[in-house]
Amino acid sequence: MALPPDTAVDLCASADLVERGMALPFDVVFSGQTWRAFAIRYQGVAYAYLNRCTHVAMELDYEPGRLFDDSGEWLLCSTHGAAYAPQSGQCAGGPCRGGLVKISLSEGAGVVRWHTAYNLQPVEF
Ligand code: FES
Repeated sequence: MALPPDTAVDLCASADLVERGMALPFDVVFSGQTWRAFAIRYQGVAYAYLNRCTHVAMELDYEPGRLFDDSGEWLLCSTHGAAYAPQSGQCAGGPCRGGLVKISLSEGAGVVRWHTAYNLQPVEF
């Protein structure tokens, strides 16, 4: 059964998201399909997005978890080099159009949680 929108789901410990470090993968059901998602930390804030490029609907990371470019300023798609802003997911360069699907996060007491939406649910086991 679907969870009500804005239900908080535990994702990881705050310490697991390192500033501009490796992304933490997790799975969600988005619009009825299971997708990979990822969480990152940028300028101290945790963000999460569906791992689906807006150029071609495929995962961004060729090397799992490696999403930041060398400057630590952009999330890069390894396939054709689309660049996304870490704090908004908006396309900032390359062949992408629009932005990544954002997943809302909250953080408190050392835990990061993601929040369900009408079209965003946890994977049921
Ligand atoms: S699939 Fe991401 S840039 Fe082409």
